[in-house]
Amino acid sequence: MTNVADTWDIHPQQFWLRGQRPDKPVSYDPATGMWNVYGYAETVHILGNPAIFSSDTLRVLPPGVIRGSKEMREGNLVQMDEPDHKKLRRLVSEAFTPKVVADLEPRVAALTHELLDAAAQRGRMELVADLAYPLPVIVIAELLGVPSSDRHLFKQWVDKMLEYSGQFSLVKQSAEQDRAMEIVLENRRHLLDYLAGHARERLQRPREDLLTKLVHAEVDGERLTTNEVVNFANILLVAGHITTTMLLGNTVLCLDAHPEHLARVRTDRRALPGAIEESLRFLSPFAAVGRATHGETELAGERIPADKLLMVWIAAANRDERQFARPDEYDPTRDPNPHVAFGRGIHFCLGAPLARLEGRVALGILLDRFPHLRTDPDARPEFIPSPNMTGVRKLPLLLAS
Ligand code: HEM
Repeated sequence: MTNVADTWDIHPQQFWLRGQRPDKPVSYDPATGMWNVYGYAETVHILGNPAIFSSDTLRVLPPGVIRGSKEMREGNLVQMDEPDHKKLRRLVSEAFTPKVVADLEPRVAALTHELLDAAAQRGRMELVADLAYPLPVIVIAELLGVPSSDRHLFKQWVDKMLEYSGQFSLVKQSAEQDRAMEIVLENRRHLLDYLAGHARERLQRPREDLLTKLVHAEVDGERLTTNEVVNFANILLVAGHITTTMLLGNTVLCLDAHPEHLARVRTDRRALPGAIEESLRFLSPFAAVGRATHGETELAGERIPADKLLMVWIAAANRDERQFARPDEYDPTRDPNPHVAFGRGIHFCLGAPLARLEGRVALGILLDRFPHLRTDPDARPEFIPSPNMTGVRKLPLLLAS
């Protein structure tokens, strides 16, 4: 199988998943007023030059576009530039260390078993609802120290944010798009208020959790403000679960569609990390990152003026034939596999070790427990209907032979 479009309902805008190539690696889209970057070399150049390509994309939005209050943006690591980004990243890295992540392995395994026990009794499962969604949410909620039993609340808020984000243009922003933005911000507000309550409580009554570590983290005598803690916790909760949910679903889908690779992973579990990395390249969950030009610059022969918004399609870069041989082939033996699904440079995903750990542990257990696991031929997988995301939101599986 060389491309997935024939069997999977992927978003129409994600042409790279259909084995199609962009006309140019960098191009201007007059309909949205944004520049699209599809090439791998160009993506690496942008992510490696934050002094030219700023992460503070809100700065270039035209007046009138709803962007949320300053208070809601403080501590949003992903949208910060140096030197502020470096300072905050050092502070949060104090609390979110490799050891904190590695210590989670037994808990991730126990939770996976618990979730699969319920599915095993039924003989079938819907991977996302039964495992891929609850697992990362429970892990991140427990890590932060907020009750994982509140996860229906996070889901409600995050689903709304997802549903309405992506409906956005720099030119002719319609009333409908304004309303979509308001819905995104309204739901973000609910999540931030919820987290603020917990953060304030940790200042009074410290516990053994990440929120407590964050409110007390100190580098060079500096501490995070409550707003910074809350906005960072919000990123962890949102970025930390939807992406990993997609990673789990996408890897199962890729392996199911390639029985020879599934067989290899089944007989040799050491092949699983390669299968996960290749699924990150092949179906990159976080399809695009945003950047704004600080000054005028040239890229792939195009002159991009100052203060322009760029959509950097890392999912398309991961299919660039100038970088990857046979880019539309799912090949877990690809070595090296320098995909950019976790970004590159100073904003490289802070949660990558956690996502990889959850993927390896959960998928390993899933394969151990169900030797005949396969997709249900009578129920098609459903993809998240957003161009900015690539991931299944429904994946019905049969467990018995
Ligand atoms: C940043 C993807 C899982 C937390 C990023 C970026 C990407 C990404 C592409 C870079 C954004 C940019 O350059 O603008 C992914 C994918 C994941 C995943 C594909 C799973 C498969 C996680 C998890 C967490 C997390 C599990 C936390 C628990 C973060 C944070 C940043 C980030 C805090 C911001 C880092 C910074 O700006 O310095 N992620 N992520 N991510 N990710 Fe992830």
